[in-house]
Amino acid sequence: MIKERRITLKNAGKIDPEKISDYIRTGGYRALEKALQQSPAAIIGEMLQSSLRGRGGAGFSTGLKEKFTSEASKTPEERFLVCNADEGEPGTFKDRIIMEKDPHRVIEGILIAAYSIGATRAFIYIRGEYYKSIRRLTTAVEQARDAGYIGENILGSGYSVSVGIRLGAGSYLCGEELTMLESLEGKRGYPRIKPPFPAEKGLFGFPTLVNNVETLATIPAIITRGAKWYAALGAEDSPGTKIFTLSGDVKNPGYFEVETGTRLRQLIFDLAGGIKNDEKFKAALIGGAAGTFVDETVLDTPMSYDLLKSKGAVLGSGAVIVLSETASLREITRSILEFFKHESCGKCVLCRVGTAHLVQMFQPLAEGIADPEPILAKMIQKAEYMAQTSLCPLGQSPMLPLRSLNRYFSNQL
Ligand SMILES: Cc1cc2nc3c(=O)[nH]c(=O)nc-3n(C[C@H](O)[C@H](O)[C@H](O)COP(=O)(O)O)c2cc1C
Ligand code: SF4
Repeated sequence: MIKERRITLKNAGKIDPEKISDYIRTGGYRALEKALQQSPAAIIGEMLQSSLRGRGGAGFSTGLKEKFTSEASKTPEERFLVCNADEGEPGTFKDRIIMEKDPHRVIEGILIAAYSIGATRAFIYIRGEYYKSIRRLTTAVEQARDAGYIGENILGSGYSVSVGIRLGAGSYLCGEELTMLESLEGKRGYPRIKPPFPAEKGLFGFPTLVNNVETLATIPAIITRGAKWYAALGAEDSPGTKIFTLSGDVKNPGYFEVETGTRLRQLIFDLAGGIKNDEKFKAALIGGAAGTFVDETVLDTPMSYDLLKSKGAVLGSGAVIVLSETASLREITRSILEFFKHESCGKCVLCRVGTAHLVQMFQPLAEGIADPEPILAKMIQKAEYMAQTSLCPLGQSPMLPLRSLNRYFSNQL
C-alpha cells in the first residue's frame, strides 16, 4: 500500500500557519539564507539540476524559465516575478492548501526564485474567493517583512525585493500567464499573442518569471536538501513529488502528495479509500476541464507528464475527478463544454462561436437520443480546427476531453 511523501506539504497541519516562529522552528527561511550566500547563477544551476517541472499544468522546466528570464536583458530597469495563485482549473485545490497551511513556504520560494533572476518586485496574483489564503498570505508577508526577509538589503545580502498581493476577479482565463499579466496591469483579461514570452517581455514590458504556487513552494526543499536528492525522487521524466487532488466518487476525497510515477490505482484505492459504496471504477478525468478522461486500462500507468502522454492523457494541474460505474459521462462532458463556452473571452471568432457550437452539437448525446460515434467525430474535427485557429490555449482545450472520450468511451456514452 502506497503512502504519501510530503515535501511541499511537509508542515501542513503540523504548524500554526499564522506564526512565522513556527515556520522558522521547522527550518523555515534557512534555504533563503543559503541561497543568498550563493550567486544567482548557482541557484539557477541547482534548479536545472533538480529537473523540477512547473506544477501549474504545462510542466515546463523551472530552471530553464529562470535562466531565460535572468538572461532576457542585461540591464532592465525592472524585472518581475509573479506567483500564479489563480487556481481556476475545476477539481484543483492544491495551491489553496499550501497557501492556507504553510504560507511562509510559498513566500520563501518566491524570494529564492526572485533572487535567482534578480527580480526587483514580486507579486502574488490570487483568486479573489480564496479569502483564507489571502488572509494567511497577507499576514505572512507582513511577518516576513518585519523579520527582514522581504524589503531592502535582505539579511545583509545587498539584494532587495518587495512582495505585493493582487486579487483576481474570477476569470478562468486570467490564470493563463499572459492574460494574468494584462489583468495585473489593470486591463481587461484578454490574452496576448505569444511570443514574446513573459521571460522576454512580461509585466509592463519587463522580463517576468511566472510560476505556480506549488512550483515555488517546492524550491526551499530543493535548496536545503540539494538538487541531486530531488532529482532522484519519482519518475525519471518529471522527478520529485506532485500534489494530486482527488474528488468525485471516492470514499475519502482530498489532497495527497506522492512521488511522481505513482499509479492512478494507488491514488484512488490506497489513498482516497476506493470507490464510494464499493461500486466499480468507470473513469477518471485527469487535469480538470482542460484534461483527459481515462478508463481502467490506465489505472496502472505511472502518473508522470510523459508516460501519461503515451496514453493520450495529460497530468495537468494534478486534479483527478473519479467517476463510478453509476456516474454519467454525458453529464460531466456537457458541463465541461458549458464551462468552456462560459469562460471563452470572445476575442477569437472560432473559439467564441465554436465553444457554443460544441454545446449544441453535444445536446443529442446529452439526451441519449443519438449515435455517439459520428457526432463525436464531427465535434473533434471542430475542436481541432478551433485549436489551430485560436489565439490562446483555452481555444485548444476542448479537444483534450473530447479526444479522450472518443478514445476510451465512444461506445459507452
Ligand atoms: C486557460 C488557462 C488557465 C490557467 N490557469 C492557471 C492557474 O490557475 N494556475 C497556474 O498556476 N497556471 C495556470 N495556467 C498555466 C499558466 O499559463 C502557466 O503555464 C503557469 O502559471 C506557469 O507556472 P509553472 O511553470 O510553475 O507551472 C493556465 C493556463 C491556461 C491556458
Ligand atoms: S482562444 Fe478563446 S479564450 Fe483564447 S483569446 Fe481566443 S476567444 Fe479568448
